[in-house]
Amino acid sequence: MKLLVCGGAGFIGSNFARLRAAAGDDVVVLDKLTYAGRPENLMGVGHRFVHGAIEDPEKAAEAMDDVDAVVNFAAETHVDRSIAEPDAFVRTHGQGTYVLLEAARVRGVRYVQVSTDEVYGSIAEGSFTEKSPLAPSSPYSATKAGADLLVSSYFDTFGLETLICRGSNNYGPNQHPEKLIPLMILNALHGDKLPVYGDGLNVRNWLFVEDFARGIGHVLEHGAPGEVYNVGGPDEETNITVVRRIIEFVGGNPDALIDYVTDRPGHDRRYSLSSEKVRGLGWEAQVHFDEGLEQTVAWYRDNPEWWEPIRSGDYRAYYERQYGTRLG
Ligand code: NAD
Ligand code: TYD
Repeated sequence: MKLLVCGGAGFIGSNFARLRAAAGDDVVVLDKLTYAGRPENLMGVGHRFVHGAIEDPEKAAEAMDDVDAVVNFAAETHVDRSIAEPDAFVRTHGQGTYVLLEAARVRGVRYVQVSTDEVYGSIAEGSFTEKSPLAPSSPYSATKAGADLLVSSYFDTFGLETLICRGSNNYGPNQHPEKLIPLMILNALHGDKLPVYGDGLNVRNWLFVEDFARGIGHVLEHGAPGEVYNVGGPDEETNITVVRRIIEFVGGNPDALIDYVTDRPGHDRRYSLSSEKVRGLGWEAQVHFDEGLEQTVAWYRDNPEWWEPIRSGDYRAYYERQYGTRLG
């Protein structure tokens, strides 16, 4: 297959591109290289790279030339940044998704939208199915939900072969240190405070990145056009359990390191996905949380050349804005 992977220089997109290139696909990556896009994530992955934004129709057309399918990972992905500066979220998820859909429609190219469990909002008990109503709480999840609805409209209105794949919280190598797990690993390695929002009892459904990449591949190849597929991780954990486990792997005194800080506004309490439908396509998560977390801690410990340039760059200013007053 010749595949266009939009946002392929990011965390999940690069894992997906690596998997598909290794399996023999011809991979083209379209990526704007925002603060989260890292060309080094694609090191050793045979691909053609197009540098540009998905909302640029000329770049989208150039990248989509002659492909069999497009998988769209390109997004602004951090909830805290969407609260501070929602502008890019609206542009990339709204205009960007629209431009890609138009390019796919004109060419009759199968289109996979990579989405998130956050579009369903929070659930106190049980798990979301694909039929659950959308009730997003943050500018991140609201703009992702809007993109999903636009994708579905291209199936209903134009008959474009669309698929939507909603993943739960991913973790693993190459994740930007603004997100919970890498942030806590790197802070613990440096002996810095670990800022836990609120009471630390929010629950996330953790999915190892390679499991998600395989799940998206199953949906791309075996999914029914027009359908949505949830891809959830095998384990649910409270944030404080995750943070304590990281300290066990890295070392350190939890009571000295953990700092409960002011909560995130609109913080969803619990995410949980039912993955029954995608299991029907033959997918199953293979990596449990304890094993995946140990591997992830080892990867960050062994790859300082990957994260040092991030920690010493713009990220410092972001960290100061986000955590400075919270951590006193
Ligand atoms: P990421 O932030 O690591 O990477 C995003 C990539 O998209 C970067 O390479 C960035 O340069 C690129 N990009 C951003 N805006 C762009 C634009 N306008 N045009 C072209 N490229 C652009 O994100 P990630 O964690 O790999 O997430 C990928 C996708 O998976 C997103 O759509 C996200 O909503 C979804 N998702 C993420 C998670 C998670 O836990 N990280 C869970 C479920 C779904
Ligand atoms: P995050 O990695 O931002 O993913 P999402 O908000 O998309 O689920 O956060 C995961 C959980 O960790 C979420 O409940 C917020 C919490 N969190 C903290 O407690 N402290 C932090 O510094 C961060 C970044 C997140």
